[in-house]
Amino acid sequence: MSAKWLTLLGSTGSIGQSTLEVIAQRSDYQIYALTAHQNMELLFDQCQRFRPRYAVLGSKLLAESLALRLDANGLQTSVLFGEQALVDVASDSDVTHVMAAIVGGAGLASSFAAANNGKTVFLANKEALVMAGSLLMDAVDRSGATLLPVDSEHNAIFQCLGQSSEVGREVRRILLTGSGGPFLERSLSELEHVTPAEACRHPNWVMGQKISIDSATMMNKGLELIEACWLFDVAPQKIEFVIHPQSIVHSMVEFQDASVIAQLGQPDMKTPIAHVLAFPDRMEAGVSGLDFSQLSALEFRSPDFAQFPLLALARTVAEGHQSLAIAFNAANEVAVDAFLAEEIPFLGIQRIIATVVAQAPQPELNTIEDVLTLDRVCRTMAEGALHIDG
Ligand SMILES: NC(=O)c1ccc[n+]([C@@H]2O[C@H](COP(=O)([O-])OP(=O)(O)OC[C@H]3O[C@@H](n4cnc5c(N)ncnc54)[C@H](OP(=O)(O)O)[C@@H]3O)[C@@H](O)[C@H]2O)c1
Repeated sequence: MSAKWLTLLGSTGSIGQSTLEVIAQRSDYQIYALTAHQNMELLFDQCQRFRPRYAVLGSKLLAESLALRLDANGLQTSVLFGEQALVDVASDSDVTHVMAAIVGGAGLASSFAAANNGKTVFLANKEALVMAGSLLMDAVDRSGATLLPVDSEHNAIFQCLGQSSEVGREVRRILLTGSGGPFLERSLSELEHVTPAEACRHPNWVMGQKISIDSATMMNKGLELIEACWLFDVAPQKIEFVIHPQSIVHSMVEFQDASVIAQLGQPDMKTPIAHVLAFPDRMEAGVSGLDFSQLSALEFRSPDFAQFPLLALARTVAEGHQSLAIAFNAANEVAVDAFLAEEIPFLGIQRIIATVVAQAPQPELNTIEDVLTLDRVCRTMAEGALHIDG
């Protein structure tokens, strides 16, 4: 079996750590690079264990300090820093596979570089597709890259679709499931005063902070709608949200003959990660199987669009100009940071997103630089809206 050289972008995150747990069982993957932003301690531990050629951190200071520690421990890993280094380790000609698991728009340039350079890209960084779906999918087509979805719902849809990863005429609907997050049973008025700690406490999944808040606002489901449109080349009208509090069914596809194919499993990201790492084969993921004697009640219902207005807004955004999606994502990232810092209330997040989406300019977006420029403009608009809200 020929060696696969993997760059793991965001190795210190929730997806990054799960990826390393799964990959520890495989001998065909060699680690080319591991990257983190600030978590130097964990990156050092990961370098000791996985011996990558490169490690990347967010600043020169952290990189110098990691280099000293690696050197003192006799490790050969070279340490780089900054955004260009992320792009370089995602696109180097020795790299065959890239796990894109940086959170947020910060992952766009490196995810794009991997796609543009013909890599097999395992995509967790959904924000990259939301911001630049058309450019990213064109880059995949042009370069001959392979894009495999890691997000559990999209991985499920990919599995349900079978060999064809695009939705043809034979698909009637995609049923995008979501647990409903920690506030499914709360009233709108109760949501005004929830704390970041409560919002981060997801009932089923253990995830990074940003996606946990996105699950609480259901922004995550909105981002996933847009992500699915690009991944499977499907119109937003063909995708329905289904609330499924148990997170056992990870999504479903209904075909023209009314057959519904679902993918089920434990709510553990190691399953979709193992699926893409082994694709088209299968491997042990280190996840226990489902005990059907304990699964007597799987519930499904429609979402409450009044309580979670970002779901409806996501549909408008998915049907509109690409700049709306950039605004939607940028405003969310700014608002989530402000909520976590206790600068705005929980419901401020959706108000800020709606304000920025309504006012976003709609320039031509021909390059990733165009996307990143508009992203910066929308972030500035969102920062302005924080003061109105706070
Ligand atoms: N977690 C899940 O279960 C899950 C499920 C589906 C999809 N996803 C998607 O996967 C992506 C990662 O999510 P996560 O939950 O793993 O996030 P996370 O735990 O917050 O980890 C984020 C990773 O990105 C790095 N990072 C943060 N800011 C960065 C920056 N400005 N530049 C470079 N690197 C940066 C972090 O480094 P430091 O540790 O040094 O900060 C960390 O390695 C997100 O797009 C998310 O939507 C996650």
